[in-house]
Amino acid sequence: MQIINELGPLRDKLSALRAAKGKVALVPTMGALHAGHMALVTAARKHADAVVVSIFVNPTQFGPNEDLDAYPRSLDRDAEMLAAAGVDLVWAPNVKAVYPPGFATNVHIDGPSEGYCGAARPGHFDGVALVVAKLFNQTGADIALFGEKDFQQLAVIRQMARDLDFGIDIVGVPIVRDADGLALSSRNAYLSVEERVAALALPQTLNKAANQIKNGADIGVVLATSKEALLAAGFARVDYFALADAKSLAPIDHYDGREARLLAAAKIGKTRLIDNLAI
Ligand code: PAF
Repeated sequence: MQIINELGPLRDKLSALRAAKGKVALVPTMGALHAGHMALVTAARKHADAVVVSIFVNPTQFGPNEDLDAYPRSLDRDAEMLAAAGVDLVWAPNVKAVYPPGFATNVHIDGPSEGYCGAARPGHFDGVALVVAKLFNQTGADIALFGEKDFQQLAVIRQMARDLDFGIDIVGVPIVRDADGLALSSRNAYLSVEERVAALALPQTLNKAANQIKNGADIGVVLATSKEALLAAGFARVDYFALADAKSLAPIDHYDGREARLLAAAKIGKTRLIDNLAI
């Protein structure tokens, strides 16, 4: 497995891979890999003949007071995990290779990027869309895989790929959870022992709310009591706890049996966690 840092060699290696193997899958990541990322790699290997994983902590998707500098970085360990999983190529550019001096382009997607994390983290999805658009163009991949844990991100990327005719298949991969139910996230590494225990309230509250909604409870009441439950469990702030249409992400205040998703984001200590559940 080769680790490539420059665009020219990436393109050469990818055309050789495509010629030798066939369909190429891209798994975009910011590194600090865990079993959730490895599930994306496993799915990529099923869908394609060659797999490229990008590792790039993308500065444009972090707000001014967010954790860009503290974000965990572990390239050597990540590379070992990816080599063991049979990945063909790692694309690990530095910031200048992605955003050279004079870079002046922005990407903004309306619709699915509005509300939820889009409201709590202004500009976040512009940064995600920009880097993902670049990764699609840099790799020319046939298919790209994203985790459903970032459910709104997945909806934004699907919208962008459709609107801009990227000609790439976007595949969502189910959330991977620890045995006790907490969704895997690189940010879980920030949690203290006490916070890790209290964080369990997030998946537990989502499950409870999902059951209540399926049993016909009033959605407004369920969402409000769920927020209170998270605060009572030790979360410092709840950015949102919402029920949304699974495709458009439009908020739902009356459940009519359509495909829906409970979406939540809340801060525990200094760590912001997100999670979601299909209804
Ligand atoms: O989900 C992530 O890790 C990032 O948002 C992504 C898609 C790699 C873009 O930087």
